[in-house]
Amino acid sequence: MKHAPGLCCAGCGAVVTGDCAGPFRCPCATSGDDRDHVLVPQPPPDSAVFAHAQAQQPFVRYRELLWSYRWSRSHGMSDQDFVTMAMELDHAVADIDGRGFVATPCAPQRTLAKAIGLASDELWIKDETCNVSGSHKARHLFGIALVLEAQERLGFADRASRATQELAIASCGNAALAAAVIARAAKRPLRVFIPGDANPRVVERLRALGAHVETCERRAGDSGDPCVHAFARARKRGAIPFCVQGNENGLTIEGGQTLAWEMAETFAAAGVAPDRMFVQTGGGALASALVTGMRLAVSRGVLPRLPRLHVVQTQGATPLRRAWERVTAHTGTLADAMQEARGHRSRYMWPWENAPHSVAHGILDDETYDWANVVEGTVESDGWPVTASEHTLTSARTLAHATGIQADATGAAGLAGLMTLAHDDVIGEGECIALVFSGVER
Ligand SMILES: Cc1ncc(COP(=O)(O)O)c(C=O)c1O
Ligand SMILES: [Zn+2]
Repeated sequence: MKHAPGLCCAGCGAVVTGDCAGPFRCPCATSGDDRDHVLVPQPPPDSAVFAHAQAQQPFVRYRELLWSYRWSRSHGMSDQDFVTMAMELDHAVADIDGRGFVATPCAPQRTLAKAIGLASDELWIKDETCNVSGSHKARHLFGIALVLEAQERLGFADRASRATQELAIASCGNAALAAAVIARAAKRPLRVFIPGDANPRVVERLRALGAHVETCERRAGDSGDPCVHAFARARKRGAIPFCVQGNENGLTIEGGQTLAWEMAETFAAAGVAPDRMFVQTGGGALASALVTGMRLAVSRGVLPRLPRLHVVQTQGATPLRRAWERVTAHTGTLADAMQEARGHRSRYMWPWENAPHSVAHGILDDETYDWANVVEGTVESDGWPVTASEHTLTSARTLAHATGIQADATGAAGLAGLMTLAHDDVIGEGECIALVFSGVER
């Protein structure tokens, strides 16, 4: 047997082998030591193939970069068996959602660039509204589902528990819908904790997909999101964290990286390199996955450098800006600042004090759960957080629709961030910009 790859906690350094059912959360996360516990898979070796060019399914195409693949191979699963497993799950997803995973379109939008007054027509949009379940969230969850499937096939999880051990997620929309599709495809029960004001059409679809839906009302004086608290209680009772928050399940970041790898390949093929990337950021898993995936693409020479990362939040809640301000106030190196920050989480990230409102309600998370990697990537790439006004968020959605992409205000908020900096004349002539539109309007 090859050496099995482990996962290492970015906050405390604890190493988890993965040879247990569910290597998702740092074992020290409950210690109350104020460290930022997030399990990070051991990176792929230099020998890992970046992309299997003949494969269209992203988890097959980039399989050698995935922890789930390397772990499965180290326990004796053949390359072909992994591909078969991924494709079986993909076909089950397609049966439910009408589509499986393929590379989503990523193209320059020159009319949009002109409409927002950019001094450049290199504005590239990756369209995730046509991804499984209508957003990029399904990528995060397919990655976790592959781990669960592999663990069962290799005898590390009990087959009989599949029908009884619940998966759990807290979400108000796109993540819940994605979880419901993937859980159904994997034939696993799912419990979803949603806020009282969740979109009724989303709730109806969740129920139709067989999810158990629990509504959690926010009460005056509550600290943090009541759905997240209810989710944590379910996890303590034994539910599997089937979520899009890296602190709750470190492996959720990995599937999201397929988005970055697809973008990196697109840019490499077109012979352009993005100078900036604007990312709508709520819990932070999307931005964390993009920055981690792009770092790998840079290390493989697929991209020449990291684009400047601009995380975009609303005026209603900017917990990430608070954390970024505190990290950049350090006088030492970034590594020193991040070590200090990861060691004293509550000085950098804490729940937003009041219940915020925004047209981009999907990025109103009380905390940016994956803040540390995101702040690190922002500083490392010489970017900064951008706060978009409600007016700009609404205009961004309208402009997104004019391109033919029906993203909602949350999913078009990256464009609102770009518009904010373009308005302030920050974007230089000829700069190449990358954005993701996600979350189809429902
Ligand atoms: C369409 C869309 N884009 C972006 C995000 C932000 O993702 P994250 O919470 O991982 O920061 C969300 C989150 O709900 C979303 O629904
Ligand atoms: Zn830890």
